[in-house]
This record gives sequence, C-alpha cells and structure tokens, in this order.
Amino acid sequence: MHLGIIMDGNGRWAVQRRLPRAFGHKRGASRVTEIVKICPDLNVKTLTLYAFSTENWQRAAHEVASLMKLFRGYLQNKFLELVENNVKVVFLGNSKPIDRDIVSQMKKLEKATRNNDGLTLNIALNYSGRDEIIRVSKKIASDHKSEILKIEDINDNLFQKYLDTKNQTDPDLIIRTAGNQRISNFLLWQIAYSELYFTETNWPDFTTKELVQILEECKHRERTYGTTDKNEKLSNSFEV
Ligand code: FPP
Repeated sequence: MHLGIIMDGNGRWAVQRRLPRAFGHKRGASRVTEIVKICPDLNVKTLTLYAFSTENWQRAAHEVASLMKLFRGYLQNKFLELVENNVKVVFLGNSKPIDRDIVSQMKKLEKATRNNDGLTLNIALNYSGRDEIIRVSKKIASDHKSEILKIEDINDNLFQKYLDTKNQTDPDLIIRTAGNQRISNFLLWQIAYSELYFTETNWPDFTTKELVQILEECKHRERTYGTTDKNEKLSNSFEV
C-alpha cells in the first residue's frame, strides 16, 4: 500500500512544553526515522511524508533555518542507513529555491538509492499539490509545442507520467496528525480516492503502535472508487 502522512503539530508539541518550535521539529525528525523503519513490516510499499510546503517559507526566518538545518542533518546522517535498508528515496516538489548544498545531497541520495526495491520513501520538500499540477501543465504544454504529444494524448494516464510521483500507485491512505481536518495542498491529484484519517496526536508523539492501530481500523473500510462494487483486492491493501 501507499501511505501519505501530513506530519502536523510539531510547533504545538513544543509550545505545550515551553520549548522553542525547533525542538518539536527535531523530535518530529526522530519519528520519521522510526516510521520509515517499521513500514516494510506493515506492508507499506510507499511512504510519502509532507516535510515542507511551498507555503512554509512564510514562517519566521529562524524557524525556516532550523528546518533546513534539520533536513541537511537528516540527509547526511541517514544516508548510509537508507542505502543499506534498501529504501528508494524520491523527493517531491520544486527544488529550485532550496539551498544548493541541500539539493546536491538530495540528488546524491536519490541516485544512490534509485535501484533499491524495498520501501519507496517520497519526501515532499518545497511541495504543494497546486504547484505540482501547474508544473505538469507547463511541461505538457511545452511538449505539445515541441510536437512530442498531441492534445488527444492528454488523459489520466499521461498526466500521471508527468507528476513527481510518476509510475507510483496513488496513496491508499492519508493520515494527518494534530487534529486539523484538512489536506493543505498535499498530493491533490493523487488523493482522488484515498482514505483519510485524522488523529489528535501531535506528530512528535506519533508512535508505530498508533500507526498499526490506524492500519487495522482502516482495513475494514470499504473502497468503491465511485462504483457500487466493493473492491476486495484494493481494500485488502491495508492488510498488516
Ligand atoms: C508541521 O508542524 C510540520 C512541519 C512544517 C515540518 C515537518 C518536518 C519534520 C517532521 C522534520 C523532519 C522531516 C524529515 C523528512 C527529516 P507545525 O510546525 O505546523 O505544527 P503546529 O501546527 O503545531 O505549529
């Protein structure tokens, strides 16, 4: 199955403890490590994490800087672990505004893990669903202009091939932590038929135990994809 997570509540977690928000993000990063490790045991083949949205640049400069420092540290410290654990890392989003040294680490990690066939870990960094759809539209328009494709060729299947998640299955389930029940520009094209789950738990308190419980609960959801038929095969993708 493909699981997407909107990791929310790092700031609230820290504020509740009278700590700087950066502490919440740091604790959140250690949750990322834990969840990535457990995914293969839970039948999760693809994990997509919303790490930084295109809107997050508008946060206070010191918070943006602390997040960038965290990403830099994650890329350096987890490099070998991800390679050796057979994780294939893919970055979603527009990398242009990200610091050059971080982008070069991202490219290095993607390259080093591209032939891994265990968990696919998508990290959405400077990502938003609308931005992705606009980037795809521009590329399709430019390919049409260069006569690479015809208007009649544009359909669901072709559009999918231009997305940051090209050749991947759509998410079966999106979990959002910290109580808010919204999508916040995450994977807008891909979540057409995804199940949604909202938990009150702040991301820094999110455990593998809670993930197992959520997957158990979602296993019983019926997925019809707009038809009246139960799709047994796909509803079983939640099987832990
Ligand atoms: C939302 O919490 C979280 C973020 C904007 C950052 C998510 C980043 C991490 C978990 C860090 C590590 C990630 C990787 C991939 C290494 P918030 O600050 O909006 O929380 P709030 O709504 O309580 O203020």
